[in-house]
Amino acid sequence: MIAHSDTSIVTIDRFIIEQEAKFPEATGELSGILYDLAVAAKMISSKVRRAGLIDILGAAGSDNVQGEHQQKLDVIANAIITKAMDHGGRLCAMASEEEEGIIAIPPQFKCGKYVLLFDPLDGSSNIDVNVPVGTIFSVMRRVTPGTGHGKLKDMLQSGVKQVAAGYVIYGSSTMMVYTTGRGAHGFTLDPSIGEFLLSHPDIRTPNAGKYLSVNDAYERYWSEPVRALMRRYRGLDTQHDPMNVRYVGSLVADFHRNLLGGGIFAYPANTKTPNGKLRLLYEGNPLAFICEQAGGAAINGRQRLMEVVPTELHERAPLYIGSKNEVEMATRMLETDR
Ligand code: AHG
Ligand code: MN
Ligand code: MN
Repeated sequence: MIAHSDTSIVTIDRFIIEQEAKFPEATGELSGILYDLAVAAKMISSKVRRAGLIDILGAAGSDNVQGEHQQKLDVIANAIITKAMDHGGRLCAMASEEEEGIIAIPPQFKCGKYVLLFDPLDGSSNIDVNVPVGTIFSVMRRVTPGTGHGKLKDMLQSGVKQVAAGYVIYGSSTMMVYTTGRGAHGFTLDPSIGEFLLSHPDIRTPNAGKYLSVNDAYERYWSEPVRALMRRYRGLDTQHDPMNVRYVGSLVADFHRNLLGGGIFAYPANTKTPNGKLRLLYEGNPLAFICEQAGGAAINGRQRLMEVVPTELHERAPLYIGSKNEVEMATRMLETDR
């Protein structure tokens, strides 16, 4: 249960503090990371809200009216998170979908015991057509000893090792959803006061799915078991009620809708991309942690996604994520796909 009085307004800061108070051993470091991430999310949100104006103020690659160089929003989002998170003394390294190697903590700042992995702007190609985009993040405890810089080994941990994860959706409103392993909680940004307010405590995802999200332009590259599974979701083999197909093409937006409404998002392996497209560490694992905390499930087609041991920072993994019944169906029907 959520420990706050029902009649009061709960800001994300207050919620984080109240959650932390339940653990006498907590040092407040993880709370600090979440708090800083919420600040970064507000900054990215304000940039995303001005996205359509970039053409007016100066297109990417050119200089704007103030003579400043315009950057693409995913580069801007990457810089915002890096700058918001590098100096708190809580992280020993970061990694981003936008950067090839580990992002080191600058030498003037202290290193801490956590690592942060993130997708700064998910679905960024949708920005140009005014469709929701998001940010995804994952926090793990370092495994290398000491207080120096974090190493690759600290990043290459399976998803079950995550201590916190979440996403921000820049949709019709901006929302942040996070978990520290005690349920998944959602906060909506009130732009008039610049605060995230608790709007979706303890999210539970329905066991049965309403929505199917998959890009079936790849059908000809799928294996036969994947094709059969998708036919079943669509009710074509008469063994399942047809699900409604919804595909935004921004993982965060597709995932968020299905989390609240029930359903499954799939990015299967195909012959062109044998591990699918989505990144295990920046996209799959954090959303899998949220989904499991909300009563759902996530697999890579063969095993529980969060048990996959990564070997590369930018590793991709096929993804089936959402309502329990639908993910169980995928597990059963893909058994022959090995
Ligand atoms: P990103 O913008 O971070 O690179 O992610 C794009 C991803 C994800 O958001 C979406 O679900 C997927 O790409 C869509 O891929 P397809 O166009 O191949 O369906
Ligand atoms: Mn992405
Ligand atoms: Mn991205």
